[in-house]
Amino acid sequence: MCGIVGVVGNRNATDILMQGLEKLEYRGYDSAGIYVINKPESGRLIKSVGRIADLRAKIGIDVAGSTGIGHTRWATHGQATEANAHPHTSATGRFVLVHNGVIENYLQIKEEYLAGHTLKGETDTEIAVHLIGQFVEDGLSVLEAFKKALHIIEGSYAFALVDSQNPDTIYVAKNKSPLLIGLGDGYNMVCSDAMAMIRETNQFMEIHDKELVVLTKDNVEVTDYDGNAVEREAYTAELDLSDIGKGTYPYYMLKEIDEQPTVMRKLISTYADDKGNITVDPAIVKSVQEADRIYILAAGTSYNAGFASKSMIETLTDTPVELGIASEWGYNMPLLSKKPMFILLSQSGETADSRQVLVKANAMGIPSLTITNVPGSTLSREATYTMLLHAGPEIAVASTKAYTAQIAALAFLSKAVGEANGKKEALEFDLVHELSIVAQSIEASLSEREVIEKKVANLLATSRNAFYIGRGNDYYVAMEASLKLKEISYIQCEGFAAGELKHGTISLIEDGTPVLALISSSETVAAHTRGNIQEVAARGANVLTVVEEGLDKEGDDIVVNQVHPYLASISMVIPTQLIAYYASLQRGLDVDKPRNLAKAVTVE
Ligand code: G6P
Repeated sequence: MCGIVGVVGNRNATDILMQGLEKLEYRGYDSAGIYVINKPESGRLIKSVGRIADLRAKIGIDVAGSTGIGHTRWATHGQATEANAHPHTSATGRFVLVHNGVIENYLQIKEEYLAGHTLKGETDTEIAVHLIGQFVEDGLSVLEAFKKALHIIEGSYAFALVDSQNPDTIYVAKNKSPLLIGLGDGYNMVCSDAMAMIRETNQFMEIHDKELVVLTKDNVEVTDYDGNAVEREAYTAELDLSDIGKGTYPYYMLKEIDEQPTVMRKLISTYADDKGNITVDPAIVKSVQEADRIYILAAGTSYNAGFASKSMIETLTDTPVELGIASEWGYNMPLLSKKPMFILLSQSGETADSRQVLVKANAMGIPSLTITNVPGSTLSREATYTMLLHAGPEIAVASTKAYTAQIAALAFLSKAVGEANGKKEALEFDLVHELSIVAQSIEASLSEREVIEKKVANLLATSRNAFYIGRGNDYYVAMEASLKLKEISYIQCEGFAAGELKHGTISLIEDGTPVLALISSSETVAAHTRGNIQEVAARGANVLTVVEEGLDKEGDDIVVNQVHPYLASISMVIPTQLIAYYASLQRGLDVDKPRNLAKAVTVE
């Protein structure tokens, strides 16, 4: 993944890079570095293992300049060491490069072009900058050398390159990894994410795959790799600086959990008019109507949101829904129906695995819809249609508000399609009203946070393993609840279909094993799940119940306000988000930046 930031023509380059890296830290946080330069040959390169704060501690006032590039790393090739941290330099030290992505043919490049080169680390990036340096040594201009390298390099990359002999220019190129130009007044920037530049500017310019940009303080020249000029309009981002702050919250995750009622209301105002009529783009509705099967492709939490929405979509639209793990489908596409429609669910809109599927779908002529939180993201640009989540930036690595927003957005889509199909269930479903009840239910659960905090202390403070169980939609919520717990508390946790546990996995239940049971379905289903609770309790499990009001019994731990069954996945997940949050907090972990993870996974 990794995050890149660069600036040319601003005397506060160091400050801009460091602020940018702090905002990009969600993309990777095992090591970081910056290179800053003022006049030829005066550059300073500072790197550090660990967080951006560790890098900051190494930067003195002498590290100043008007041009610079910075990088925060999520290791792919080589461990998190200072030698492997970016920026990397060419053999003579003249060229300095940051990179996000994976160069697939780096070993081949090393053998074919770089005999006699000594490398400091094990990264693919270092090979790329040595290659460019070598071509310049061979007599090419910097631009020609960069272009030649880009013709040779295969894989995914976002590059920002500085020539220490000419620090007035940053050379930029990308393929499959996100990168964006930021337009300042008398200076220009390049970055993996608009959020990291919003303090400086709200004017941006996209870069498409296999485009090269020569960036100076007052010029942005975009070409393809053969040098043909590309015309590109700038656009104004809607982002607000206050959207990306933590406010008084100790962690972004808690802030984002708290924002969910607002997000639900925002979705109502976006996808319904004042009279409650659904306003989803008719072209999207028509495309879904024409499909004989909906395929939802996603990764991680977004994949779980797809499952949590499956039965609602099927009931409202009368169209079967199949789920696919994006990293599997990119290379193992199963037999599809005759008229498929692909929905790419992705908070970031940048997940490389999902993009791989979309590239295939596009090649096969399959209509596609990206449901994402990030306007202008790669998946949104490349799909036939886009629906936005309007959840505001999600910065904590563990996704919360994007998950609930995805289910709500799919509810609007399903209702619109179902109405167009004349489906009774859709016509009778007052989504606007029901979603405002969900917003209230979320608020009620949030007000119980102290109770949840105490329950977690009793249940999860020291355990290594845990289970979430549920039936129907509760099973799908259990999948997400257990992922959340794993991600940020490092407790090994499995989300299980309550009835399936006894067919093998129950052998793992021993004295004190935490089992968290979710109950929101009908009386009958609830009775069966309670039966399964008895089975694990009889074997020593320490059980915590999260139950929807109306199905609750004396002794239940957390009772969630009742909502429409189509939307119960949203209300039921809220306590589980808080459970994960407090489990992480009580273990003294970094809630927002769990080990080994990154928020936008832009490598396959
Ligand atoms: C990463 C994140 C997960 C996220 C997944 C899919 O693995 O750590 O939290 O669910 O990517 O991301 P997307 O942006 O496609 O929803």
